[in-house]
Amino acid sequence: MEIALYQPQIGYYSSGETRTGRQGDFLTPVSPGPLLGQLIALQIAEIHLTLNHPPTLHLVEQGADRGHLAHDILTALSQHHPDLLPRLQLHLIEPSPSLARQQQTHLHPFRSLLPLHWHADLSALPPSSHPTFFYSCELIDSIPVRLIRFFSGQWHERFVTQTENQLDWIDQPVSAELLNEINRWSIPPIEGFTTEIRPSISSWLKLLSQKIQKGAILTLDYGLPAHELYHPSRFTGTLRALRQHSPSANPLTDPGQQDLTAHVNFTELIEEGKKLGFHNHGLLPFMTALPRQATSLLREYPPMSEKSTRNFQHLVHPSFFGQSHLALLQTKNLPESYQPSMFFS
Ligand SMILES: C[S@@+](CC[C@H](N)C(=O)[O-])C[C@H]1O[C@@H](n2cnc3c(N)ncnc32)[C@H](O)[C@@H]1O
Repeated sequence: MEIALYQPQIGYYSSGETRTGRQGDFLTPVSPGPLLGQLIALQIAEIHLTLNHPPTLHLVEQGADRGHLAHDILTALSQHHPDLLPRLQLHLIEPSPSLARQQQTHLHPFRSLLPLHWHADLSALPPSSHPTFFYSCELIDSIPVRLIRFFSGQWHERFVTQTENQLDWIDQPVSAELLNEINRWSIPPIEGFTTEIRPSISSWLKLLSQKIQKGAILTLDYGLPAHELYHPSRFTGTLRALRQHSPSANPLTDPGQQDLTAHVNFTELIEEGKKLGFHNHGLLPFMTALPRQATSLLREYPPMSEKSTRNFQHLVHPSFFGQSHLALLQTKNLPESYQPSMFFS
């Protein structure tokens, strides 16, 4: 998964080809229009207010693709919170030089309004004593997973091997490290049960936590709490290959030409976040969280255009992103009384 998606220049994402949106292989919540960015802009303004208008607030996005979401957020802030913009600094974490160039082009109109920074990876983000708002949309589902399967009375890890001219699976008994993870999540030892584990999440969150002394992490992605992700009914796991808006039968075919993705274990983000001093404000599906956030948008700037209403329906309707996609907000060193409007109506 790491090589197929991120091998410099030829990986599915590192090639810089169009992957999201109608012209690409799949739609994300950013694709239907600017409303998601408008709702995140409200969240940013709310945190700025909660912190009593600090002179600097860092915004950090990882996995920004071509920079559409950042563009939508900055556009909304410049329209509705112009005083806030000069207090912001935007950082994009982007390992692909090709995607970074596309983001720079897309965000060029904002260059004179606030400092924009690019970093090749999260470790390069300078730690700051100023508050930080980190957000991502469909980032974590694209972080590589390790595949496991239970058979013949024991857990195996599924590796990839080459046989003649094609890639194939090869199963080997799991390492002690992976077995610890399997036990941690009480994954049911049912003959044939196949699922995924994303062991790099704890080190990723630890690194992110070192960069945030005060602030918030907003995670928007598809996934489930651990007890649902590792439920016996989810027997074949969630690893999927996608191409041209359809699932592809085999994740091993055409590496670099199709997306590979697996659901997020949200319990892991919450538990690891707690260990690092983050307070969890809740985990809600878009269909619940976004209407709550939109209430203040409607209150402040009515009425919503027909286009925005369609955009809203795409985000919250259960057959689009409403049920599959969840919002998680974790905060660190914010006033205890803070109640994000996304999670409290
Ligand atoms: C499914 S796309 C989502 C794109 C965009 N956020 C959206 O919602 O439309 C996943 C993105 O995460 C990026 N990504 C994955 N791992 C990353 C990492 N470690 N650092 C930065 N970007 C990463 C990929 O390159 C890709 O652009």
